[in-house]
Amino acid sequence: MERPLGVVTRGTTNPNRLRRVDHWIVTACGDALRAAADPLVVDLGYGASPVTPVELRTRLAARVRADVRVVGLEIDPVRVAAARPAADPPGLTFARGGFELAGLRPVLVRACNVLRQYDEGEVADAWHTMTARLAPGGLLVEGTCDELGRLGAWVLLDAAGPRTLTLAAKLTTLESPATLAERLPKALIHRNVPGERMHELFAALEHGWRAAAGYAPFGPRERWLRTVSAVKESGWPVQGRPRAWRQGYLTLPWPAVAPT
Ligand SMILES: C[S@@+](CC[C@H](N)C(=O)[O-])C[C@H]1O[C@@H](n2cnc3c(N)ncnc32)[C@H](O)[C@@H]1O
Repeated sequence: MERPLGVVTRGTTNPNRLRRVDHWIVTACGDALRAAADPLVVDLGYGASPVTPVELRTRLAARVRADVRVVGLEIDPVRVAAARPAADPPGLTFARGGFELAGLRPVLVRACNVLRQYDEGEVADAWHTMTARLAPGGLLVEGTCDELGRLGAWVLLDAAGPRTLTLAAKLTTLESPATLAERLPKALIHRNVPGERMHELFAALEHGWRAAAGYAPFGPRERWLRTVSAVKESGWPVQGRPRAWRQGYLTLPWPAVAPT
């Protein structure tokens, strides 16, 4: 299951790349972290620089729990060694580890842009391996985003399996909801084809976006809000409140989008 190091992506990581998912985590996973006996969080596959675990720790400590402990896990030992100067124990540490989470029992795992390197057929096992190691009430957020973090999508899972899919966009740069399809998590990225729920969802989003073109002069937030409202009115079980929609988020229960 673990990817050979020879195909691991090399490069840098843009600061704030995961800002959108982190802000969503604060809202959607904050209660689980607050209720945890041990506020342990794993950032799995943090990449070429430790910037994303540093940011995650800062955001969670400021907005959820000051005593949060973030452990950055990487399969690549070179990246573990490179990250160590950024450690700030006990709140932020780095170690080698994969989907088995190095024997830790975190209440929250964030795994962003990791499973995209794997085959679709490997996703279910990877999800199960991670969720089986969560602390009671624990959550996994697994997804992808573009380089600058303007477009993203992630699945929220617990020990019972996937719960929701969230699409997220920086609305001031969103050309069309269709661009989000390129950023779907591995479990769904090949499912934007006729006959699949994802395809129907993107058709509904595109229809709503075009119908809301007249609201564009009032700003992209207003156009997106009208788009999401139209999708909901057409029968999609869109979750959350207009406040979250205005921020560019769209969350649906997993059964509404799951592969057929
Ligand atoms: C594209 S980088 C993502 C970096 C960061 N999470 C982000 O979103 O910007 C993917 C990272 O996942 C790591 N990786 C791949 N498979 C892994 C596994 N099974 N466990 C831990 N890390 C893994 C790779 O070494 C690589 O550093």
